Amino acid sequence: MKIGAPREIFEGENRVAMTPDSVVALAKLGHTSVVQSGAGAKAGFSDAAYAAAGAEVLPDAKAVFDAADVVVKVRGPEPSEAAMLKRGQTLISFFWPAQNEALLKQVADAGATVVAMDMVPRISRAQKMDALSSMANIAGYRAVIEAGNNFGRFFTGQVTAAGKVPPAKVLIVGAGVAGLAAIGTSVSLGAIVNAFDVRPEVAEQIESMGASFVYLEFDASELPDGAATGGYAAPSSPAFAAKQLAKFRELAPEMDIVITTALIPGRPAPKLWTADMVAMMKPGSVIVDLAAERGGNCDLTVADQKIVTENGVTIVGYTDFPSRMATQSSTLYATNIRHMLTDLTPKKDGVIHHNMEDDVIRGATVAHEGAVTYPPPPPKIAAIAAAKPKEKVKELTAEEKRAKEVAAFKTQTRNQVAMLLGGGALILLAGMYTPASFMSHFIVFVLSVYVGVQVIWNVSHSLHTPLMAITNAISSIIILGALMQIGSGNWLVVILAALSVFMAGINIFGGFLVTRRMLAMFQKS
Ligand code: NAI
Repeated sequence: MKIGAPREIFEGENRVAMTPDSVVALAKLGHTSVVQSGAGAKAGFSDAAYAAAGAEVLPDAKAVFDAADVVVKVRGPEPSEAAMLKRGQTLISFFWPAQNEALLKQVADAGATVVAMDMVPRISRAQKMDALSSMANIAGYRAVIEAGNNFGRFFTGQVTAAGKVPPAKVLIVGAGVAGLAAIGTSVSLGAIVNAFDVRPEVAEQIESMGASFVYLEFDASELPDGAATGGYAAPSSPAFAAKQLAKFRELAPEMDIVITTALIPGRPAPKLWTADMVAMMKPGSVIVDLAAERGGNCDLTVADQKIVTENGVTIVGYTDFPSRMATQSSTLYATNIRHMLTDLTPKKDGVIHHNMEDDVIRGATVAHEGAVTYPPPPPKIAAIAAAKPKEKVKELTAEEKRAKEVAAFKTQTRNQVAMLLGGGALILLAGMYTPASFMSHFIVFVLSVYVGVQVIWNVSHSLHTPLMAITNAISSIIILGALMQIGSGNWLVVILAALSVFMAGINIFGGFLVTRRMLAMFQKS
């Protein structure tokens, strides 16, 4: 099939949906590529680079739309582009079907298939096609760079001959994809970073990145009955919202840079950084409001603009951060598109198989075979989960809980006594027929197995891999034993000893390899 990328016509859009690298990758799926002349120019990809990668460079958008079976774009189609889509043709781009109903109907009536990159379900299998995340990651990074560009001081603290410079204090509100990228970037630039999110479960992740999580403290009287979760009020409760704003008010005079990314999908951005907080900030401070497109988290944000308030605070409300890093964002977006095409070309033979049974393809397809297919049904995984509702756990009274604990303790004790008696009887039996030297080794062996199992059993499941990786070094004891036996005259003993050395060797080297890989995951390259 022919995949075609026209030049983006949306004002100020610098990205492109196909790069020379993705042309090469698409060829491996059996597809040929066409690209409009100049499509990649603003992202740093020349026509010559596309041609060298094997794409045909066509003079205008019409030629691309006429030639391509699949049109790939970044922005949703403008009316002039939608009019060029033909029956049986596929468009892959951002589309925002809920906001563009009329356009969707027009394209569906024309018989084109539309795969909306913003509708890719956020499930782990689809991560490689999750263009919203790859773009939000860039936006988070760029927000920090933009803040630095408008901030008159260093991020990192310095002690120089010319004087002491304090580190910049940064607050990130909302620790989703963009927020975490902003945290990582600000920490690596040396700032003191605080972050807040309504989901307390991200606290650990924030702290592991070197930032501090801003906790809200509630008195017992402030927690409405049933809303408390581990000492925290429900994020939707008025008590929580009031506490959050009070905390921000307390932090406002201290913070040099505030980056807001808070959003709940499908809702307007919550107003979290109010005008009085801006007024409390020091002159020269910077606010970058990533939620500007959805109304902004800050009261004073103006979408697509940078403003400076009367007290000298700069508020950046740009909505095109990924486009400001067009080479990087085009590379990631083109990879997302290429992965989508990989799923659409299961046999890698250049033939598109639009499998509407596949959760990811179905979820992202908003128009197909002349019909609007948005909204999609819930993913099958969720449907299975919904089909088997968990049995409601009955709330137990304190007495019932105690009785349950006593019964469990009794059963456990009974089992342990039975095992002890059974084990003792077996050892006695073995002792009657085997030499004393064997028995002393055998008892040590049984005890060490017991201790080993007890130790490992009580380690949390998530820690098993690192535990095993390190304790595999214990295999060296096996190697020592095997080496002592390998010189034995009995061929069976020699074979067993050699096998032991071999397997324990795999354990040791494999264990260290796993540890190395795990450590590498936490190291900067
Ligand atoms: P996300 O859904 O991954 O993260 C949003 C986070 O905000 C979540 O962790 C959520 O728990 C948190 N949140 C929601 N309500 C909150 C509240 N009241 N207080 C504190 N935290 C709250 O979203 P993602 O992908 O990180 O995007 C973040 C924002 O960046 C969105 O508004 C998105 O539209 C915007 N964006 C802007 C771009 C630009 O160029 N300006 C480009 C890409 C994304």
